[in-house]
Amino acid sequence: MKGLSVLAAVLIFAGGAAPSFAGVVDDLLVGYKALGVADFSAARGKEMWTKEFKSAKTGKTISCATCHTTDLKQASKHAETGEAIEPLAPSVNPKRLADPKFVEKWFGRNCKQTLGRECTAQEKGDFLMFMRAW
Ligand code: HEC
Repeated sequence: MKGLSVLAAVLIFAGGAAPSFAGVVDDLLVGYKALGVADFSAARGKEMWTKEFKSAKTGKTISCATCHTTDLKQASKHAETGEAIEPLAPSVNPKRLADPKFVEKWFGRNCKQTLGRECTAQEKGDFLMFMRAW
């Protein structure tokens, strides 16, 4: 962890122009790597985003895009409750990917609800690579 804070300090000193979510996502990826993941892929994340599963709860087809759509810059609606969901894209919504606990909490819930199981560290890293690019 000491190495990381030194790195963070260097990055801040070096200009601080990086958006707030970038450091949070980088730290999460470092954590997934520590679990043995070799590399992450936005393309795989994108593919997984629209992959359809059968919801154990409703029996209906479900994917990440069911609630978040395929245009992450748009607001959307929860597929079951109709509750409004703000855009996931950090470029239009600075609150996104800015809090690691919030990200992990919702990976937990959303993966179980969509895939019917926890996402692996590989899958979470791929999703983050896909989402951060928006
Ligand atoms: C049934 C609806 C639903 C589905 C399906 C769904 N989500 Fe979500 N997601 C939500 C809600 C509700 C929130 C929390 C409210 C909010 O942040 O707007 C959320 C929040 C998130 C967040 C937190 C982002 C942040 O930093 O603010 C991430 C990451 C996320 N979802 C990823 C996914 C991924 C990956 C999938 C597919 C495996 C997925 N979601 C599928 C409803 C859904």
